Amino acid sequence: MVIGFIGFGNMAQAIARGIDAQREKLGAQMIAYNPTRSKIENFPGSVSACETPLEVAKRSDYLFLCVKPQMLPGSAPEFRAGIGAGTVIVSIIAGVTDEAIRALLKTDRPIVRVMPNTPLLLGKGTTAIAHPQGLSEEQYRFVCDVFESIGTAYEVPEDKFDEIIPVNGSSPALIYQIAKIVALNAEKHGLDFARSLAMFADTLQGSAAMIRQSGQDIDSLIKMVCSKGGTTLAMLDSLRDNGFDQTLDNALDRCVERAKELGRGE
Ligand SMILES: NC(=O)c1ccc[n+]([C@@H]2O[C@H](COP(=O)([O-])OP(=O)(O)OC[C@H]3O[C@@H](n4cnc5c(N)ncnc54)[C@H](OP(=O)(O)O)[C@@H]3O)[C@@H](O)[C@H]2O)c1
Repeated sequence: MVIGFIGFGNMAQAIARGIDAQREKLGAQMIAYNPTRSKIENFPGSVSACETPLEVAKRSDYLFLCVKPQMLPGSAPEFRAGIGAGTVIVSIIAGVTDEAIRALLKTDRPIVRVMPNTPLLLGKGTTAIAHPQGLSEEQYRFVCDVFESIGTAYEVPEDKFDEIIPVNGSSPALIYQIAKIVALNAEKHGLDFARSLAMFADTLQGSAAMIRQSGQDIDSLIKMVCSKGGTTLAMLDSLRDNGFDQTLDNALDRCVERAKELGRGE
């Protein structure tokens, strides 16, 4: 079983680390092409560098497309001739539909779109995976196994791959931004920034566990923190009065819209 990477940047390396850690279970050999070859040579795992993207495509059973959306039209002609009748094509590229990828690759092979996120780097990613027609159960299971080796995986319809980005792909930055504002506010009030950031990170973990494990719905969880006339309610009221909910909703819409723009090459 050969897994090949076209582009070996941050996300590809995170995926390769997971595969490397699950080498025995997955039984896969990895190869990659990246213009800056040192990214492959310095990778602390077992990945062979190929001279050309065409060589990667020719040798791969599973071909992972890991370039930026804007790079795909330029790079596709370099390797598409190497895609065989049995190659499973997996794309992590944001915004580019399966149809657009098939057109660029001049193939009718199914495209497994996946949307991972950066916590993958620590083996704690959450990945959306489409389940295209024309893929065997075994092939689909293998792709799920790869992403479950670096976190969790959820099946998401292909036509919702732009909409899922604010949920998992981009949302880590939203969380980091909120964490930064919380820690900066703590600093303003005389507390240490780094310790406050760490404490908030622990609170995120605890809150995530409450969402997943408490058995309470999200409104009950919010209510549980809000005593009448208390601090939390004052905070949430202030957010609402200042248009936070609408502002955040607009930002999430903008994220989806940007994915659609990227898909159109804008
Ligand atoms: N970052 C995220 O949180 C995230 C989340 C979900 C999905 N994604 C998707 O993941 C993809 C990769 O993102 P990333 O963050 O890993 O970006 P990245 O670190 O910039 O990786 C892209 C890689 O592609 C290489 N490349 C450039 N031109 C190429 C070509 N013609 N053929 C082969 N490789 C080429 C680049 O190499 P050089 O450095 O040598 O130019 C670079 O190593 C994007 O499509 C993005 O939409 C990212």
